[in-house]
Amino acid sequence: MPDLSNAVLMVCGGAGFIGSHFVRIVRKYHPTTRIVIYDALTYAGNLTTIQDLLDEQTTFVHGKIQDSTAVEGAITANEVTHIVNFAAESHNDRSILDSGSFIQSNVFGVYVLCEATRKLGITKFVHVSTDEVYGSINEGKFTEDSPIMPNTPYSSSKAGGDLQARAHHITYKTPVCVTRGGNTYGPYQYPEKLISYFTVRLLMGKKVPLYGEGNQVREWMHVEDHARGILAVLLHGEPGGVYNVGDENERPNREIVRILLEETGRGDDLVKRIEDPRKGAHDTRYSMTSNLTRALGWKPEKDFETELRNTVRWYRDNEWWWQPIIAKPEYTDFIRNFYGKYLGEDL
Ligand SMILES: NC(=O)c1ccc[n+]([C@@H]2O[C@H](COP(=O)([O-])OP(=O)(O)OC[C@H]3O[C@@H](n4cnc5c(N)ncnc54)[C@H](O)[C@@H]3O)[C@@H](O)[C@H]2O)c1
Repeated sequence: MPDLSNAVLMVCGGAGFIGSHFVRIVRKYHPTTRIVIYDALTYAGNLTTIQDLLDEQTTFVHGKIQDSTAVEGAITANEVTHIVNFAAESHNDRSILDSGSFIQSNVFGVYVLCEATRKLGITKFVHVSTDEVYGSINEGKFTEDSPIMPNTPYSSSKAGGDLQARAHHITYKTPVCVTRGGNTYGPYQYPEKLISYFTVRLLMGKKVPLYGEGNQVREWMHVEDHARGILAVLLHGEPGGVYNVGDENERPNREIVRILLEETGRGDDLVKRIEDPRKGAHDTRYSMTSNLTRALGWKPEKDFETELRNTVRWYRDNEWWWQPIIAKPEYTDFIRNFYGKYLGEDL
């Protein structure tokens, strides 16, 4: 039985959405594991998300994953034994505006972490990726053996990172696993993704931009289920393995919007149907099996509709977290640049 009790775990991107929940899950199930959160604090990283976690067990190091000196310095100074990498540029719409930083973080950064794993004798490195690397599927489901056919600058950069991990394992036997997670929702998600963005706008009584009729289908998973799936791979995954992590809960975007309107008490007049800014790059449907991760003993536990409503309530009760974020220029500039021409005076 793998044991994390004496492990020192470096969680790259741990000040972001899924990474911070992963830290909470590890602290809950493995209270003696030391955790080093390594994060560049980009626009998406936030110390307020993890402020209640920093103590003797969990420490913070500021750095970029593409900076090999800083990465290797943090590993050596803290005697790190395991790495999980959440650090990435993670927003499709931002990648359409400018994709250079996506390649730096999502491809080169993964290479740096693979190299550090190999050179410094890390026991296991789990790289967190996305189902979006498979591209879109109209019928059936992707498996881990499906070809990688990404359609956006974001998903292609994630695919590049996955391939670095694969090649490193094949060439050097580097002990790296890759997880490919489905769309994730829950508290502390930067308010730019479908659920978090729409929720804060509806809470403020502002219009939300729905792409087309909202027919795009996504597999939605609660962030704690996703984090537990990644932990299962850290504990039990085969080095070199790829593991899909999804709960096969497929919903069209319009259904998500219906629940958000209900829970925020807003009407359909706040939904502005807009021409799809992603154009050809907007994948129609994501769907995959997660049998390999289930075989490790993981299964999703959260009921979607209940947890989506709980998530809306969390945003309602925690304005202290998101109001300062949406006041920053890196947020308002993006919203204006990307949605300005669609939302006009409703911005
Ligand atoms: N959110 C989803 O629905 C979803 C679904 C599947 C997979 N993923 C993947 O999970 C991972 C985490 O996603 P998220 O939604 O929590 O992202 P996020 O944008 O909320 O957080 C990313 C974190 O990484 C940090 N970071 C970014 N670039 C960095 C760099 N170069 N060096 C160090 N730190 C850096 C940021 O400061 C932030 O704290 C990503 O790799 C993403 O591709 C996300």
